[in-house]
Amino acid sequence: MISKNTIEKVFDTARVEEVIGDFIQLKKSGANYKGLSPFTDERSPSFMVSPVKQIWKDFSSGKGGNVVSFVMEHEHLTYPEAIKYLAKKYGIEIEETEQSNEEKQKASDRESMFLVSEFARDYFQQQLTETATGKAIGLSYFKERGFTDDTIKKFELGYAQDEWENFTKAALQKAYKLSYLEKTGLTIVKQDKQFDRFKGRVMFPIHSISGRVLGFGGRILKTDKKAAKYLNSPESEIYNKSKILYGLFFAKQSIAKEDNCYLVEGYTDVIQMAQKGIENVVSSSGTALTPDQIRLINRLTKNITVLFDGDDAGLRASLRGIDLILEQGMNVKVCTFPAGEDPDSFAKENNLVEIKAYLEENAQDFIQFKASLLVAEAKNDPVKKAELTRDIVVSISRIPNEIQQEIYIKECASIMQVSEEVLFSTLAQINAKNYRESNKQKQRSQKAFDVVKQDKEAPQELNKVNPKEVLEQKIISLLIKHGHQDSLFLDVEIDLDEEQQIILNEIKIEAKVYEKIFKDLQDDETDFTNPIFKSLKDKIEKELASKGQIDPKKFTQQLSPEESEVVTNILMEDEKYKLHRWEDMSIIVTDKSQLDPNEVVQSILNLRRLLIHEKVDAFNQQIKEGKIQNIQETLHEIMDYKKLEVLISKRLSRVT
Ligand code: CTP
Ligand code: MN
Repeated sequence: MISKNTIEKVFDTARVEEVIGDFIQLKKSGANYKGLSPFTDERSPSFMVSPVKQIWKDFSSGKGGNVVSFVMEHEHLTYPEAIKYLAKKYGIEIEETEQSNEEKQKASDRESMFLVSEFARDYFQQQLTETATGKAIGLSYFKERGFTDDTIKKFELGYAQDEWENFTKAALQKAYKLSYLEKTGLTIVKQDKQFDRFKGRVMFPIHSISGRVLGFGGRILKTDKKAAKYLNSPESEIYNKSKILYGLFFAKQSIAKEDNCYLVEGYTDVIQMAQKGIENVVSSSGTALTPDQIRLINRLTKNITVLFDGDDAGLRASLRGIDLILEQGMNVKVCTFPAGEDPDSFAKENNLVEIKAYLEENAQDFIQFKASLLVAEAKNDPVKKAELTRDIVVSISRIPNEIQQEIYIKECASIMQVSEEVLFSTLAQINAKNYRESNKQKQRSQKAFDVVKQDKEAPQELNKVNPKEVLEQKIISLLIKHGHQDSLFLDVEIDLDEEQQIILNEIKIEAKVYEKIFKDLQDDETDFTNPIFKSLKDKIEKELASKGQIDPKKFTQQLSPEESEVVTNILMEDEKYKLHRWEDMSIIVTDKSQLDPNEVVQSILNLRRLLIHEKVDAFNQQIKEGKIQNIQETLHEIMDYKKLEVLISKRLSRVT
């Protein structure tokens, strides 16, 4: 691990405007800099950098954060990779924290495996381009497939001679250890004999997201019925095929820029399409897509287009895998090719304009595609039709966004010639079943204000506005902008009069904003539900308690990329107006930085009211599902909450 010391040094030294300036032309604009967003194709600048706060904000894509998050976002690097990048730029030496011996061994094992693999890549490349047999057999094969020298170089393609131990001997001679050759699977060791795994094959190195070589795919050149067409490296400490996508290293920038990812079946599909100028292409190397692989894409775009071979016998089976993509809230399209064609052959025969036009015309929304396919299959067989109807609704049930679900139900009803009601009730059945199953695995404690947490397994409502989160964010914003300020709060206290009736007393409280907020939250045993807001709130509390105020430059350093994005959004909120040069047009922008104490009180009360409301809803739901043993007691509890809700509503109407 990189030491905390090094991370701090990087943050202290790196200037966000300099780092971003390496990628984008920035122009001074008041206290800030502005430029064209690197994440979208825009004509007028909406990308802002604040040298004072050391943060950036892209108003066209909504992204923002500190210097490290920019490097992560722009270069698609992980946190440690981004720190390393900046350390290199500023000549900061990287100090690693003490690792246990076991950790050290593991890290150096992995590193040695990378080095062996990279030696192999260089060796196979050299065999391809510098040996007579390599050129005659390997290179001419690639040429026949239409690959240019540039493409061969870019994808680092190579050739393994049809010999038993050429490669292993060369590696051992260069002092690479046999144990690492064996661990990477490049050499097969049998008793005292050792021989090359790849022989007589053209070689496709498989890269990590940052471009290191993890393993290889080797394609046979002879027509040999017994041998597999492609032979791949075995799983190892560095090569886990379910967690990588072939081509992602070359495609990542383009996927983000195009905001779409094409998914194909094989190595040659990726390479051929990239050569033709469609670079946002990756392949799952002939196996079903895994959730980990989808997550890799999901970091770059929400849109995926799956390209199927023309006469794909496994089409029906592959459709199932697509439900996994829907589950992650992604938009899926599919495109099939003419009979006998795959993306490779199609790309080879057509030019960029033709390929683009074909993809645009033939890419269909996945659900619609599936529905039409199933309709054709069921034709006039009612039993089959019922079965297939359920099949399509299962797919729809995977979509996290309910509005989208509803739209699809309507569309499918018309494609499949069934009534919407039937589809909706099937959906309800499937949802109920999913709900029961995910509930079985969970037992929830039911303390006061312990709001039902979002189910990880149940579909997440990604695109829905969650009022609780809006309030939580509002409170975070108040804390960051005004946390340290003293203010006078008008609040209402609950009291009892002589007849033991509840009354509300108006009171005035003088306090710092953050004291008021944290005290109220504590009094209610209320906590935030969004994990990012919650951890951010805790960090703000710590910072304010120890330093008395928040210095954005220092504070954002200790935040995760997600947290720092939230803070940046808040800090840059007001800059948006300046961006449009409203001041220049002598329009006075209202000063949003003024504190309104009422806003503080209201936000907290609103949050309380929502939480209580949810609590009551949850009880009602449980009663409906027959899960409550003691109905009387629960009803009492509900009544108590209802009273509390009324009180809060009263308080709210007083303070507004
Ligand atoms: N594959 C594999 N092992 C096999 C067959 C296929 O790993 N025995 C993987 C490879 O990644 C291959 C992909 O599945 O690229 C698709 O297989 P296929 O369609 O058979 O190969 P193509 O890519 O079309 O190969 P080519 O055009 O070279 O015949
Ligand atoms: Mn092919």
